[in-house]
Amino acid sequence: MTDAPGSDIAPAEGEPVASFIAWTEAMSVGHERFDGHHRVIIDGLNRVHPLLGTTGREAEVHAVIETLEDFVLVHFSEEERLLREIGYPDWRPHKAMHDAMYELVFKMKADIEHGRTPDAQLLFAILNDWLVGHILGEDRKYIPYLDHPAPRAEPIWHRSNGRPF
Ligand SMILES: [Fe+2]
Ligand SMILES: [Fe+2]
Repeated sequence: MTDAPGSDIAPAEGEPVASFIAWTEAMSVGHERFDGHHRVIIDGLNRVHPLLGTTGREAEVHAVIETLEDFVLVHFSEEERLLREIGYPDWRPHKAMHDAMYELVFKMKADIEHGRTPDAQLLFAILNDWLVGHILGEDRKYIPYLDHPAPRAEPIWHRSNGRPF
């Protein structure tokens, strides 16, 4: 595994890829673990970029989609939970954006399972939107709340074992 901070969905190991885009501090959301998660999207862009316009490399496109499946399951739920906990006022529309991305990833996966050829161009466009529109646009909006949580608007419920959900 790489040593991406606290990440169990870190960028995949493998042959080095020529970087189409590199991580910079300007992409940070001020949360080490989530930055580690977000690097999966950068890694996806770097892996898909050399596949654009190629044929016969569909398995590599598929592999990136499978990584994204892990990403949406882990990252979205953790981020949504934290946004609620810090009282981020727009956590509901933020979750709705996550839900839409979740649908995109699972539709791509379902299409492939039904025989559709993995589409590098479509995947690249989705990842690019994800980085520019969501991580750099929407995710960075919660940065001020990480240091100064708002008074909690939503109750945090606890299971009988005492863990929040
Ligand atoms: Fe997000
Ligand atoms: Fe995020």
